Amino acid sequence: MKPITPYFLLLSLLCAPGVQAFEVFSPLPAVAPVPAGNPQTAEKIRLGKQLYFDARLSVNGTISCNTCHDVNNGGDDGRVRSVGALGKAPRRSTPTVFNAAFQSVQFWDGRAQSLEAAVLDHLYDPTLLANADEAGLIERFTAIKKYRAQFAKVFGKEHSVTADHIAQATAAYVRTLITPGSAFDRYLKGDKKALSENARRGFEEFQKVGCSACHFGINLSGPPVPMGEGFYELFPNYTGSEYDKKYNLVTDDLGHYEATKEDIHKRLFRVSTLRNIAHTAPYFHTGTVPTLDEAVRVMAKTQLQQDLTDEQVKYLVAFLSSLTGKLP
Ligand code: HEC
Ligand code: HEC
Repeated sequence: MKPITPYFLLLSLLCAPGVQAFEVFSPLPAVAPVPAGNPQTAEKIRLGKQLYFDARLSVNGTISCNTCHDVNNGGDDGRVRSVGALGKAPRRSTPTVFNAAFQSVQFWDGRAQSLEAAVLDHLYDPTLLANADEAGLIERFTAIKKYRAQFAKVFGKEHSVTADHIAQATAAYVRTLITPGSAFDRYLKGDKKALSENARRGFEEFQKVGCSACHFGINLSGPPVPMGEGFYELFPNYTGSEYDKKYNLVTDDLGHYEATKEDIHKRLFRVSTLRNIAHTAPYFHTGTVPTLDEAVRVMAKTQLQQDLTDEQVKYLVAFLSSLTGKLP
């Protein structure tokens, strides 16, 4: 039997005012959307790239963006929890930075409405880069002659080294960390042979089982809602399965509620992108599910109240593996 919610959900979304007609699945574009206030330039991207790999962004010079979002390792660090500059663990598992530029909202709880806001949040987060204030950060970077010149070139001579500009440049670089050209993208563009037989069956299961009710759109993370809006779902949607305890899925983390303090947002989490998902274990904001097979079983049970056969899991994993793109 086909689940009711997914199709209802999809229909109501497609009819919702403000959401333009779009393909349920479409290939990843070659470039990410760019906000009006932070145009991409080659110099800015170069500066952003340097900053991304520079541990001086952290309060004590110990970690860089790449420590946790390793661009040679799926854009994350493969840990249940990362370790911040001061040795503290962030509350949630580190998501991939790849294709984050296609999300309308950042973080598991959607508290940052842009990439720039995400970087600013990180700079002062005591569990991450842990800077006490902007002054210390500016002092460190102003002291470096090469950076001074680069910031001035990109942002003008006056007040060029600021936290906002650090965030803008780094975000500009992150907008280039996208992975088009996956087998699934080639399939969507008309190369019907791009998917293996198992992956093709998996794509069918993905729609039949109902994964596609939430995971659709270019990032398989929902509709193209306006920037800052985000697309959220309850997680777990159905509580009470054995997985709640096994993987510690129900905690005091109230998700989107923590960003808005509105009761209706309790335990809502942003629908994750599934691009490159075969390379970003462990899974979920809890980081507690170690393998993709198991993440698929958990999703079917907690979101759709279904138990999958081993064969269904095999096909779904083959499909999800076809979402691995070309690394930038
Ligand atoms: C100590 C580890 C750590 C470091 C260093 C780090 N991050 Fe993160 N990053 C995280 C964690 C954890 C989250 C998820 C936070 C949450 O959802 O509450 C995250 C989330 C993000 C996101 C949002 C992705 C998404 O899908 O929502 C982006 C973008 C990002 N980081 C970029 C960066 C950049 C750029 C830097 C360097 C300025 C950086 N990060 C440094 C751990 C880290
Ligand atoms: C009702 C909406 C919904 C449905 C249906 C759904 N998902 Fe999800 N999915 C989510 C949400 C929300 C998250 C983020 C959960 C979190 O905060 O940890 C997620 C996360 C995931 C993740 C982990 C992402 C990561 O980076 O750790 C995978 C894998 C996944 N889903 C696969 C699937 C598959 C396969 C199906 C079908 C069996 C499915 N999902 C059905 C909403 C849904």
